[in-house]
Amino acid sequence: MAVLEIKNLGKSFGGLRAVNNFNLTLEGGELSGLIGPNGAGKTTVFNMISGFYQPSEGQILINEVDTAGRKPHKVTALGVARTFQNIRLWNEMSVLDNIRISQHHWLGYGVVDSLWRSKRYQRREKEIEEYAHELLEALGLADFADELPRNLPYGTQRKLEIARALSVRPKLLLLDEPAAGLNSQDVLELIRLVRWIHQKFEVTILMIEHHMDVMMQLCSRIKVIDFGETIAEGTPEEIRNHPAVISAYLGDDNI
Ligand SMILES: Nc1ncnc2c1ncn2[C@@H]1O[C@H](COP(=O)(O)OP(=O)(O)OP(=O)(O)O)[C@@H](O)[C@H]1O
Ligand SMILES: [Mg+2]
Repeated sequence: MAVLEIKNLGKSFGGLRAVNNFNLTLEGGELSGLIGPNGAGKTTVFNMISGFYQPSEGQILINEVDTAGRKPHKVTALGVARTFQNIRLWNEMSVLDNIRISQHHWLGYGVVDSLWRSKRYQRREKEIEEYAHELLEALGLADFADELPRNLPYGTQRKLEIARALSVRPKLLLLDEPAAGLNSQDVLELIRLVRWIHQKFEVTILMIEHHMDVMMQLCSRIKVIDFGETIAEGTPEEIRNHPAVISAYLGDDNI
């Protein structure tokens, strides 16, 4: 079954056409990529999938449910989690709380329950806390549980963002430039981490990344957009040699 189905998606900002006639279907378990030059519309696609922006036209289905009109936390409830191109951790909270609270924040847990401190609330709190510890352990972040995110090395912050996204047990994980700002050692670790997460969490992944070797190693399919338009799609090998892709990245003069 398709975890994600996008049909004829478009987004305009005033006179600017950021995304036009974008189509994409991801079957459960896929790990696919979205690439394109700066300003191509990649993050805008993520913002529409995750409910941060409403599309100007088109349709997005998550596990066959239309997301039209849903706020981000309602989209999260359908099984979608994301990371941000510019890290958006909660810097005043510990690493552990970033994971713990995200489950409340993104899933809207516990508003009524917490007033009553019900048994159900307490049980859920305990589950949330245990899962947060499990995730930190699994991603090698356990030693940092009590630290503030801003005190962590940059690569560790990127990892924490991924851990936080996983905390809501997504079916579809959107990674927006997870390798941005990482040194080459961290990039290698990220490749291993994404591959491991993909298997271990049985999650469908769509990632945006400018690091071509990351995409070549991880993605089974890649879609390329430029000025909001799809210019190519295929396997990493097909994309690497595609004239329109080379031209979009280097300019026609270099062909
Ligand atoms: N909220 C907004 N209001 C107005 N214009 C926007 C908004 N968000 C994005 N844009 C514009 O839409 C276009 C696509 O932006 P987007 O951030 O999706 O590009 P991108 O492919 O993610 O680029 P990058 O690789 O630099 O992250 C750009 O021209 C951008 O300036
Ligand atoms: Mg972007």
